[in-house]
Formats: sequence, structure tokens, C-alpha cells
Amino acid sequence: MKKILVTGGTGYIGSHTVVELQRKGYEVLIVDNLSNSRLDVLDNIETISGIRPAFEQLDLADGKLTAEFFQRNPSLDGVIHFAAFKAVGQSVADPLMYYRNNLYSLVNVLQGMKDNNIQNLVFSSSCTVYGQPEQLPVNEKAPIQKAWSPYGNTKQMSEEIIEFTVKSCDVKAIALRYFNPIGAHESALIGELPLGTPNNLMPFVTQTAIGIRECLSVFGGDYDTPDGTAVRDYIHVVDIAQAHVVAVERMLGDKGKSNFEIFNLGTGNGLSVLEVINSFEKTSGQKLNYKIVDRRSGDVEKVWADTTFANQELGWKALKGLDEMTLSAWKWELRLAEIKK
Ligand SMILES: NC(=O)c1ccc[n+]([C@@H]2O[C@H](COP(=O)([O-])OP(=O)(O)OC[C@H]3O[C@@H](n4cnc5c(N)ncnc54)[C@H](O)[C@@H]3O)[C@@H](O)[C@H]2O)c1
Repeated sequence: MKKILVTGGTGYIGSHTVVELQRKGYEVLIVDNLSNSRLDVLDNIETISGIRPAFEQLDLADGKLTAEFFQRNPSLDGVIHFAAFKAVGQSVADPLMYYRNNLYSLVNVLQGMKDNNIQNLVFSSSCTVYGQPEQLPVNEKAPIQKAWSPYGNTKQMSEEIIEFTVKSCDVKAIALRYFNPIGAHESALIGELPLGTPNNLMPFVTQTAIGIRECLSVFGGDYDTPDGTAVRDYIHVVDIAQAHVVAVERMLGDKGKSNFEIFNLGTGNGLSVLEVINSFEKTSGQKLNYKIVDRRSGDVEKVWADTTFANQELGWKALKGLDEMTLSAWKWELRLAEIKK
């Protein structure tokens, strides 16, 4: 049985990926410091898969603790590194906290891999590296644009750190550039747990519908898009999770074309904010209280993925549609409300 370390494995995308890895017969070890997730996620993973993943609570930004962890666990077949802070606004307010957490933890993980001859890394990157691309859909060869936030900057710098590291040792890596992951597991047992006010559209939609927030502000109604609202490539989190398993298999099977590969993970379809709201109202049966307000600084107008490379090289394709995404997100919000009672 191949053993995979999943850092940030109790988080949103990590927990879904753990379930998909277990489904494919991998043994999973999770490391997380629980800064943005909860321990009971392990119970819910176990309920879904029937297997409780091994877990260690650890701050990967701590070099000494991380080195000791890798010494205790040298026989790993691969690492999927999700652990990072991800709130764009918070990163603008406290850049050093983001550089420290996101870059130190990556460096410590790479060092642990190098020192213990662990060769395969899958890294969580983001479409934020493209900024507002000149050409759409955007493919992996598009130029990286100057980052609009410290968070985005940590993703660009992380890719560069990985690129130089793989040239210097036996570690190989795949960076997956996610577009906009939304939705939750069909069981409604795991999903996104936003701390504080959500930055992203979907948790804001579901929290407004359930009454946690009064009104959803749609930022910008005058963009150069079919209905004037911003366009993104929303992708179901389970599709994203499955891509990680495919990436791990590619590395374990030594099928990569180079030691550092980069793939877009999107559906290839751009959807406007209003299209997401319409789908949500249809699938949930809830009328959403929203208003269109001024554009938010730092938001790009439109971006969606060219997924040809991932489709052809990884043999992976996003399968779930928008209605499945919005309905599963709603069922997850209903479950969170149930737990709170
Ligand atoms: N969700 C998105 O929209 C999105 C989009 C693009 C990229 N990403 C990236 O994907 C990854 C996972 O995102 P997510 O949405 O699942 O976020 P999340 O916050 O739900 O999960 C991240 C997990 O990492 C843990 N963590 C953070 N810093 C840590 C540290 N120093 N040591 C140990 N654990 C630590 C947190 O407790 C959390 O459980 C992140 O790297 C994020 O930047 C997310």
C-alpha cells in the first residue's frame, strides 16, 4: 500500500482529497495545525470512507518540528502539500504572516523530502498567478503577472522555489493551478469551513441564504461580460480532489514529461456571478437577497481555464456541473446549521 502525506488534510480541499486517495487504496497520513480546520473532520472522513486516516497536529512553518516529523516518517511515497493560509484580504493586512506561513512550510516540507529521499510532491497553486490574462481561456504557458496580493505572491514564489529545488535534487513535483473550487462532498459530511467573513462567492451565497448574512454584495455589474458581473471558472471540489489522485499516480508511475509539471484545474467554462446565483436559487429553492455594488479592488474581470493540457496529459477532466456544485454547497450549509443547533 502506497503511503501519502497530505498536509492541510483536514482543510477543505485536503479532506476531499484524503477521501479520494482512500477510495483508490492509498494509506493517508494527515498533518495539519488546525489553524483553519477542525479535528472532527477526521470522524467525518472515517464515516465516508470507513477508514480513519492517521493524523498529526503540527505547524509545518516550524523547521525543527517538521524535520523531526520527516525523520519519524521516512517511508512516504509522496506528499500533497495543501497547508497554507488563503485569505487574500488578510494577506494584504498582514503580508509577513502569509510569507512566513506559506513559504516556510513549503521550504520545510521540501527539505524533509530531500533529506529523506521522498521524491513526489503535488503542490496547491492557483489561477491567481495569471492575474487578468490577455488571452482566454488561459493556458499554462501564459505569462505570470505581477501578484495583486501577498497571498498570490506566495503562490508564485512557491512555484519558483519548487522549480529551483527539483533542479538540484531528486524531488519531482506537479503544481496544480486551481481555478475556483466550490461545492462539497455528496454526503454533506465534509465541505468548506470559512472562518470569519468569507472571501469567496459560494460560502457567502449559502450563508446569506441561511440567514447568517443579511445580503450578498455582488461586486461589479459593469464588467465587460455578458451580464456585467465577473466571470470565473467554478469547479467542483471533488473534481479537484480526483485530479490530485491522478497527479500522484502519474508521479508514482514515473509518467511525467519533466521533473516539474504544471496543470490548470478548471472546467474550461467561464460562469458569471449571476449564473451561479441563478443556479443556487434553482437547486436550493431559496430566494437570495443580493445587490449589485461597486467593483472590489483586486478582482479581475474574467478568467477561465484552458484545460487541454490536463485533459490530454493527465487524462483527467472535471465532470460535475454547476447545479451539482451549488446544491452540494447548500446541503453542506444546512448540515453546518444542524450541527450548531
Ligand atoms: N479554496 C480555494 O479557493 C483555493 C484556490 C486556489 C488554491 N488554493 C490552495 O489550496 C490549498 C488548500 O486550500 P483550502 O481551500 O483547502 O484551504 P483550508 O484553509 O481549508 O485548508 C488548509 C489547511 O492547512 C492548514 N494549515 C495552514 N497552515 C498550516 C501550517 N503552517 N502547518 C500545518 N497546517 C497548516 C489549515 O489548518 C487548513 O486545515 C491552499 O494552499 C490554498 O492556498 C485554494
